[in-house]
Amino acid sequence: MRFKGFSRRRFAKIAAWSVFGISVRPSTAAANAASGFAKAKFANFPDNFLWGTATSAYQVEGAINEDGRGASIWDRFTHLKGKIIDQSTADIANDHYHRYKGDVQLIKELGARAYRFSIAWPRVFPEGTGTPNPKGLDFYNRLVDELLANGIEPFVTLYHWDLPQALQDRYGGWRSRDTSQAFADYAGYVAERISDRVKSIFTINECARLVQAGFGTAIDAPGLSLPQKEINQVRHHVALGHGLAVQAIRAHARSGTRVGPAENMEICIPAIETPANVRAAEIATREFNAGYLTAILEGKYTDGFLAYAGADAPTFTPEDLKAISSPIDFVGLNVYMPNHYVIAGENGEGFFPLPFAATYPHMDSNWLRIGPEAMYWAPRHVAKLWNVKSIYITENGTSAADRLSGDGKIYDVDRIMYLRNYLTQLQRATSEGIPVEGYFVWSLMDNFEWSDGYEKRFGLYHVDFKTQRRTPKLSASFYQEVVKRNAVA
Ligand code: NOJ
Repeated sequence: MRFKGFSRRRFAKIAAWSVFGISVRPSTAAANAASGFAKAKFANFPDNFLWGTATSAYQVEGAINEDGRGASIWDRFTHLKGKIIDQSTADIANDHYHRYKGDVQLIKELGARAYRFSIAWPRVFPEGTGTPNPKGLDFYNRLVDELLANGIEPFVTLYHWDLPQALQDRYGGWRSRDTSQAFADYAGYVAERISDRVKSIFTINECARLVQAGFGTAIDAPGLSLPQKEINQVRHHVALGHGLAVQAIRAHARSGTRVGPAENMEICIPAIETPANVRAAEIATREFNAGYLTAILEGKYTDGFLAYAGADAPTFTPEDLKAISSPIDFVGLNVYMPNHYVIAGENGEGFFPLPFAATYPHMDSNWLRIGPEAMYWAPRHVAKLWNVKSIYITENGTSAADRLSGDGKIYDVDRIMYLRNYLTQLQRATSEGIPVEGYFVWSLMDNFEWSDGYEKRFGLYHVDFKTQRRTPKLSASFYQEVVKRNAVA
């Protein structure tokens, strides 16, 4: 099915190019004949490559006081003055809680076969632990059933930052290992009840961001600015929470349930692709991700990490590291931008991170540096360094200015440019045999972008937050084409 308003006929009409006032209607056939170019060939992704799209509970659901949901740290945070750029909250957000059926149809229109969403812990355990609220899980049961009825595979994330406020009040949240245990209990409870239909579970979304922005720069809930030692301890508790949750899922889920993290790893890119620089980028990847991904995949904190942290190193036991490195089935990677360009150090040893130029280009969000090759190197490093056999790109996408044009459409060519370039690099990865099994574009629709409120739009569908109307952007047609061809369009 084509999107209404983006039909070929309509394009032919708009595509009368105006060059110096002269209107020229381009003819692709004529242009091809004149150029002598061969008919376009599209570089395919592997058969069965899974195309999907993603959202998270707090960013889309709304309905924060319905059906017994408890408060989350993000409810508390958004209601504090000055924390969210446009003073907004996600009390209503996309009202997805009530509109999920329509939203499933949006996924279906893209042709996507997978949807990654998160479960709000405070819906299931309003107090974080203790008595569950069955109505909370009911919502996700309805959503899962609706997805399956429409031929869309559910991929569930258990923690996308909306910690029950009760745990923040009781334990200081992730500052305490009690929260790691509470997370595992919640994970086991959910896995037992959904694994008859949900086969793939992500534990925690973006440990790196939740620790740094929540406990360092105070941009995210709970809005703390802790000393480095405590930040390292928080990260250790999050890693422990991941590991204990993996164990709980194994203990309670049906056999065959797959589990892994979804991390925004620090992506290290060889500035020039020579063997020495590639090696340097691998060494850098291990060290820059030492507090989480490396610990999960190696069962230890690297010597470099411990030496650098010195007295600020986290307190841990060998049992903790064993739990943290519980075997996983896949690694999810949220890929947005390059974090470091590196070259080999002197005499070809170690690595040397290069500074970013002040004018380095970025997308609409100023943190979102453009570097499509991040999409090649992230999965390649993970596969090569740790012999990981199954990788998903759990998020990739961009904010864009998304102006409504005179005809009421959104021609977001900058988002298409971004996606096309990143997907080209992903295709390079899969064509070299790097085991990426699927890709989830972020995001299905515009939503609550954390401290950027509703000012930054990441969706393939535009959302009018006053009317809740969803309108496909041109990038939705682009993605539809990618999915249909199983190739970069
Ligand atoms: C990663 C986060 O997981 C998601 O919640 C956020 O909206 C996107 N990045 C864009 O910032």
